[in-house]
Amino acid sequence: MKPSDPIGVFDSGLGGLSVVDTLRRMMPDEQILYFGDSARNPYGTKTMDEVRQYSFEIVEQFRKQNVKAVIIACNTATSAAAKELRKAFDFDIVGMEPALKPAAEMKTPSKIAVWATELTLNQEKFAHLMERFDSNHDIVRVPCSRLVELVETDQLEDQQTVDAALKEYLSQSEDAEFIVLGCTHFLFFKDRLRQLAGGQVQIIDGNAGTVNRLHSLLEQKGLLAPAAKGSLTIDNSQPEKIDLSWKLYHSLEEK
Ligand code: DGL
Repeated sequence: MKPSDPIGVFDSGLGGLSVVDTLRRMMPDEQILYFGDSARNPYGTKTMDEVRQYSFEIVEQFRKQNVKAVIIACNTATSAAAKELRKAFDFDIVGMEPALKPAAEMKTPSKIAVWATELTLNQEKFAHLMERFDSNHDIVRVPCSRLVELVETDQLEDQQTVDAALKEYLSQSEDAEFIVLGCTHFLFFKDRLRQLAGGQVQIIDGNAGTVNRLHSLLEQKGLLAPAAKGSLTIDNSQPEKIDLSWKLYHSLEEK
């Protein structure tokens, strides 16, 4: 493994591009290979075994491309497969989990709504995370599969449809003071959600935390890329989604 080797980033589809945006801003010298599994999206309503199998297939492809590390840019795949993937591969694998801890540490007690996929919210991993904080906080779980669908089907510009979905999930969030975005697809709604939720609600996500973790792991091993012009390659199991991927990525990059 060498510093100039690429970093593999994957998600069940297009959501992980929000992590790529953070990664490119924080580590601009790196070569990034992105893979979105839109053909099998959504992962959030599949079984743990199915998501684990898909994740292994994708990381095996990254291994063949000589990656030096992988980011699982998907909370769902992380909870289903991160532990097993780390045992099976010899490069660093960094995952994502709903950023409940940073939210809980900002104010105690507080009302926190965790927006994520069904599979993430029903996993043992999330139950353990909840246990650490629910004695001091009022935490509500809000499964938001519709938001994943709106990103995958290119409906982000349909303001009426987007607002209807966001309002529905806000109504299930029981006056939360914090909303944790526990699915990488939801980052595309962050600005609009902030407007609809009002200034008193803080919206938290785990993207920067994940990239920081990757940075420190690569730094420890002397595997950070040398100063160079980084690059991004986007691939998808549904090739017709590649144009949409670039469109979404650029919409974040321009912010
Ligand atoms: N983007 C994924 C996550 O972070 C899941 C979306 C899906 O259901 O496929 O959880």
